[in-house]
Amino acid sequence: MATTPYAFTRGVDYPSIVATSEKVAWTVDAIFRDRRFDATKRIVPDSWVRTQHLAFLTPQDQRTLNHIRAFSYVHLFGNYEEFIPLHLMEIAQQDWHDDRAHLRALLRFGEEEMKHQQLMLRAEAVLEASCGYAFGRYFDPPKERVTVFTKAVLAYPPLPRFLLLAAFEWGSQRHYVESVRDHPGEGSDPLYVDLLQYHWMEENQHTKTDVLEIERVARDMSPEELSAAFDDIQGLGGVVDATFVGQVEHELTTFQRVTGRQLAEAEATALHEALCQSMRAIWAEVALTHPNFKQVALELSKEGAAKLGIV
Ligand SMILES: [Fe+2]
Ligand SMILES: [Fe+2]
Repeated sequence: MATTPYAFTRGVDYPSIVATSEKVAWTVDAIFRDRRFDATKRIVPDSWVRTQHLAFLTPQDQRTLNHIRAFSYVHLFGNYEEFIPLHLMEIAQQDWHDDRAHLRALLRFGEEEMKHQQLMLRAEAVLEASCGYAFGRYFDPPKERVTVFTKAVLAYPPLPRFLLLAAFEWGSQRHYVESVRDHPGEGSDPLYVDLLQYHWMEENQHTKTDVLEIERVARDMSPEELSAAFDDIQGLGGVVDATFVGQVEHELTTFQRVTGRQLAEAEATALHEALCQSMRAIWAEVALTHPNFKQVALELSKEGAAKLGIV
């Protein structure tokens, strides 16, 4: 095996990624069976919503916001993942006769993301059936917005795309491990916990492929090019942030429609602010502050990492 200047790929190889992927594989039907979410309780941890300090909201309002956020999470995730198979196929097409395990890892990764999209779509439908109302969607059914989003992400070079992807995938592991598994008393919905857990099991392999691909792409880049990749991550961050804000608008509309509440202007502003903050916290902060992402960023480029506040 070729030597690598990067510690973050130590102990990681394509054959074991493929072997684990085959071992842990699941189906969407096996997770859901005929189960529903329990709409009489919270579905996700309060830390995903962070509106508890707003005194004008009743306990019933807080629960509705919790369900709305549970929906937003699967809605955004399913759509974010649409760019991944395209991104990976572009890499695979560079050499169809490359190492078998390498190509299988890329293709399985792509197929698993297609399955995750199906998982998230199923969760959207089951959440609506369980709660008894429709939730607002930033990504419209004709797929115009997801097409624009996917093109915007794919317009960036492979390295920042892989870095963003790895950050999100490590972040998604935290959603399960830190928000749910380590806090069983918080009362997240059992079906939702299963969804996060099964997603997490496959994302574990994806982050390993990510670091191997990051190493492969970074190998031939100059320190200046590596530093510039972090400017691109900031650009990609802006693309993603616009979707947070867009989905929060739908959260507010859904909240007012479902509860029949007409919020005063100051209340609506405070709720909007709180929802935007928690949206950024559960996606961007958990991703960019993940210890593995910090390690990769620092090893690639200290100058670049500093642009993201990683020192
Ligand atoms: Fe996924
Ligand atoms: Fe993934």
